[in-house]
Amino acid sequence: MTMTISYSLNTIDSAVEQFWEIAKNFKVVTFSGDMGAGKTTFISHLCDYLQVPDAVSSPTFALVNEYRFEYEGKEHTILHTDWYRLRNIEEAINAGMEECIDQTKNGPTFCWVEWPEKAPELIPPTHLAVYISTTDITERSMSLTTNE
Ligand SMILES: Nc1ncnc2c1ncn2[C@@H]1O[C@H](COP(=O)(O)OP(=O)(O)O)[C@@H](O)[C@H]1O
Ligand SMILES: [Mg+2]
Repeated sequence: MTMTISYSLNTIDSAVEQFWEIAKNFKVVTFSGDMGAGKTTFISHLCDYLQVPDAVSSPTFALVNEYRFEYEGKEHTILHTDWYRLRNIEEAINAGMEECIDQTKNGPTFCWVEWPEKAPELIPPTHLAVYISTTDITERSMSLTTNE
């Protein structure tokens, strides 16, 4: 499946709503796109939509931010990771990124990965791949792809 969503910061919240209807079905979601494309911005709006109580920030330095939220009456966890600073699979494993992926298998935990290209071997075959590209200063085009 492939679909495209275009949005600006004025329409990002309806894009988020549309996105979640698909993304809720995938434990692992990868976010690709150039620096400044809007990966963190989109995730931040998505977390607002999901009423995550903590402030969402870029995990570039911490590598992983953990958020909790209630969904359909149940506690869920999001592991928001950013692999930008990692160089390869070995560094990713040492930094605990494989554990983040593994945690999605054991309960209501999602793992969202910025810069998955740094260690693509760790991404399970079933995932939602998101590519964000800049079409104008204020406009973004997001493509969603799954292998299903
Ligand atoms: N439609 C849009 N969606 C997301 N960001 C946008 C949009 N239009 C402008 N921007 C700006 O682009 C930048 C995106 O930065 P950021 O989300 O940190 O990117 P990334 O995480 O992909 O490196 C922000 O400064 C944001 O204000
Ligand atoms: Mg980012």
